[in-house]
Amino acid sequence: MAPPPVRRHRSDSPPKLPAPSLILAGRALLGGRLQPVEIAIGEDGRIASIGRIRTGAPRHDVGDAVILPAATDLHVHLRDPGGSPDVENFSTGTIAAALGGTTLVGEMPNTSPPVTDPDRMAEKAARAHGRAAVDVLLYADPVGATDLGPLARAAGGFKVYLSPTSGIDRVPRPSELPPLWRRMLAYDLPISVHAEDPARFDPRAIPSDPTGWNEWRPPAAEEAAIAMVASAPTGLRLHVAHVTTARSVARVRELGWSCEVTPHHLLLSDGSGTDARFKVNPPLRSEEERRALWEAYRSGRVPVVASDHAPHALADKSLPFEQAPSGVPGAETMLPLLLSRARSGELDLGVLVATACDRPARWFGQPLGRVAVGHRANLLVVDFRSRTALSGRHLHSACGWTPFEGWEAIFPREHYRDGVRIVEDGEYVGQPTGRILRPEYAPGPDRAA
Ligand code: DOR
Ligand code: ZN
Repeated sequence: MAPPPVRRHRSDSPPKLPAPSLILAGRALLGGRLQPVEIAIGEDGRIASIGRIRTGAPRHDVGDAVILPAATDLHVHLRDPGGSPDVENFSTGTIAAALGGTTLVGEMPNTSPPVTDPDRMAEKAARAHGRAAVDVLLYADPVGATDLGPLARAAGGFKVYLSPTSGIDRVPRPSELPPLWRRMLAYDLPISVHAEDPARFDPRAIPSDPTGWNEWRPPAAEEAAIAMVASAPTGLRLHVAHVTTARSVARVRELGWSCEVTPHHLLLSDGSGTDARFKVNPPLRSEEERRALWEAYRSGRVPVVASDHAPHALADKSLPFEQAPSGVPGAETMLPLLLSRARSGELDLGVLVATACDRPARWFGQPLGRVAVGHRANLLVVDFRSRTALSGRHLHSACGWTPFEGWEAIFPREHYRDGVRIVEDGEYVGQPTGRILRPEYAPGPDRAA
């Protein structure tokens, strides 16, 4: 007797994909190669399918341009609240990010007041709501927090400052670190560490220009801070912010943590300028250190690139070096500067996409950063022939200057957020519908790598 027919349960039928609302046709980096592709974007704003697609949905052919995933920037300072809105705020900083191809920013807690309790976190989230052009993940500062639980449940990540810097005067004593790490173990949040040990700052150095600043806060201070963190318990999701030397990168990777490098430490050295526009923490290093860092990055040894966008008023940066604040803007220029390096052949496009788009999105636990089915259709269209020279006056960060004045950059022609175009012909055309995100999933065993 023939077996009874297998009754198909309703859930056995293939899931119904949302009807595509747009098909993007162009070239994309798939399997490590640029290949002609059609990407169907569903009505839910996710990538529905990749391949040759036959439907009646509107088709947008981008010609010779390249379709890339939009970037995630783990490290920005938007100065909101407490800063002057003429220097930066949620609106200007996120529009700048969108124009630079960044679709999610991690916003640091050293605002005024610093984000050390849930009320301040809620206040910051309320300020971002209705103003942010891209999505935002808010970091909390656990050092000054009394009750970590409610803060951790509202935060997207923690930022631990081991040395004083703009907006941070109080840093944990070495004896305070073990209980701090233990308290954070209970929450599966990304932890970014500003690794400079103030005990290693050199009192003999004369910090009146970037070379003196580098001598005053030397690479040894970074290495000592990394050694201080090395005794943290395993299980924390540690990420070292703005690592400045290839030695530090190697050490951080040995320890199994994640880390980021910034475009300014990759491209500028302590000889790039003499005034306070080139003052930043940690400092710009020697040309030799910079070259070694670039080589580590170029060869794929650094998991993430992040801007450490730290806008300050040009008037403040024009003060005598000793009095001027530290920090350089960079949210809008990070990807465009590196896209220009990819065009010239100095940087592999795959390394750039992995470090600026895929790994940082995974570090924040987000379905972003890859041209992959099911991911949010946060995509860029980049025409590598359209090269421009950077000019601070034409950038969109309210601070209005860049340490990369005159440098070649390639800006995305289009930026789609959930399938909706927010940048068209290099102009911002979006709405302030950015959301506050928290990690949706924990990254895999290799962390951000
Ligand atoms: O140079 C810096 N500026 N380094 C930091 O760590 C903070 C930043 C700022 O907020 O201005
Ligand atoms: Zn920073």
